[in-house]
Amino acid sequence: MTLMKAAEAARARAYAPYSGIKVGAAVLTADGAVFVGVNVENASYGVTLCAERAALAAAVAAGARDLTAIAVAGPRGTSPCGVCRQTLWELMPRGTVAWIDNRGGLTSSDVATLLPDPFGE
Ligand code: THU
Repeated sequence: MTLMKAAEAARARAYAPYSGIKVGAAVLTADGAVFVGVNVENASYGVTLCAERAALAAAVAAGARDLTAIAVAGPRGTSPCGVCRQTLWELMPRGTVAWIDNRGGLTSSDVATLLPDPFGE
């Protein structure tokens, strides 16, 4: 199963009763393990957790830290939001992100390209 397929399979389990926008994400580790996440919305909208950060949290909770790539399955043009880009930078600064572009094709970029001039300590 490709990483995007794993993200798409997870997407079906997203909890998005407010926006109706379901997103799934799948993180790949250097040794081939895959961790998935979905967006989890809340009646207090700002509490919402994006699929990317859910997948990253699952990987970290499992002890996986050598994260190489993440695929995002959502509507066309769903690339990671700014908060997720900062989180990606923290946990996989040399990683790659793949998503479905505005025309429905698969596209990808480096985390470092998606977050120029990042904040870091
Ligand atoms: N969302 C994600 O999970 N990931 C993204 O990359 C973009 C946005 C979610 C948050 C919210 O539940 C819904 O999509 C609409 O913004």
